[in-house]
Order: sequence, then structure tokens, then C-alpha cells
Amino acid sequence: MNYQLVLIGFMGAGKTTLSQALGRANGLPVLDTDELVTQQAHMPINEIFSQEGEAGFRQREHLALLHALTSKPAIIATGGGIITQANNRQVLQSLTVPVVLLTASPAEIKRRLAGTTDRPLFKKDWPSLMAKRNGWYTASANRVLPTTGRAISELVQELQHIMEEVSIHD
Ligand code: S3P
Repeated sequence: MNYQLVLIGFMGAGKTTLSQALGRANGLPVLDTDELVTQQAHMPINEIFSQEGEAGFRQREHLALLHALTSKPAIIATGGGIITQANNRQVLQSLTVPVVLLTASPAEIKRRLAGTTDRPLFKKDWPSLMAKRNGWYTASANRVLPTTGRAISELVQELQHIMEEVSIHD
């Protein structure tokens, strides 16, 4: 199966959890741009931000996205800020594979990310960051999957349908 599916969305939208579940259910490799960045940098995200600034992290993240996309079949999870960079938005918009935007309400994100420590941008004013990014998320995706109040198993099934629908038309 020559298959690819990309997940985008704000921190806490479920990208990592759902990519892992979907990969497991289909026996497909899972690539996560955050993981690729930390592996390549040999540093956790907080440290990359403090040593290289957000700009350094974004450069690494762009390369990680390009690298992840060379892998097929694969489920690809991206960092929540990937869409802040015009070059990444261009790449995502040019894809013909499903680019699924996972959405969640601010209350749900707050609940899911309670106690998070390795997310330097998940600070007090994250709701305004989210509002600022919303247009970029929708412009970069070709599918939207709301996740608030929905079970992981149900969401995996929905993603499964997207995968099947696309492979039928391949
Ligand atoms: C970020 C989201 C994080 C990570 C980094 C920056 C962002 O990924 O890439 O902390 O700018 O929203 P998750 O969305 O997986 O938390």
C-alpha cells in the first residue's frame, strides 16, 4: 500500500495519539515531525527553543516535514506550529494525499494539556495563538475532523474511512 496521511492541528488536538493508533491499526510506519526534530537535534524541544530560538526550531521542523513526506506508506503527525511557516503551508497545500485538520475546543485542549511541560508555546496566551493560527490551519488542510468529546476509537474509524475512500479512488 503506497499510502500517506498527514495530521495537522493545534497542540492537544490529538495528532500524536491518533497517528500512533492509526499506524498500529494498519501496520503503517508513523512519523512525527517533533520526534524527527528532537532526534536530529539530540535535544528536547524546550532546549532547542532556548538555544536556537523559535526560528531555529522552525528551520529544523521544515526539514523534518520534507523528510517525513519522502516516506511512503506513512502516517505523518506534525507539530502544532507547522502552519505558521509559509513554506510549510505551500508544501501541505500541494499534497494530493489527505491532510487532515484535527480540531478541538479551547476547553478540551486545556483539559488534554493540563500538566504539559515540553511545549514552550503553551503559555498563558495560547488561546490567542490558536485564534491567530486558525485561518492557516484551514488553508493548509483538505479535510477537517472535529475531536472534541469523541473517543479515540471513533476518531480512528473516521480516519480509516478517509484512508479507504482515497485508496478506492487511487
Ligand atoms: C508547537 C507545537 C508542538 C511543538 C512545539 C511548537 C506549536 O507540537 O512542535 O512545541 O508551535 O504549536 P504539538 O502540536 O505536537 O504539541
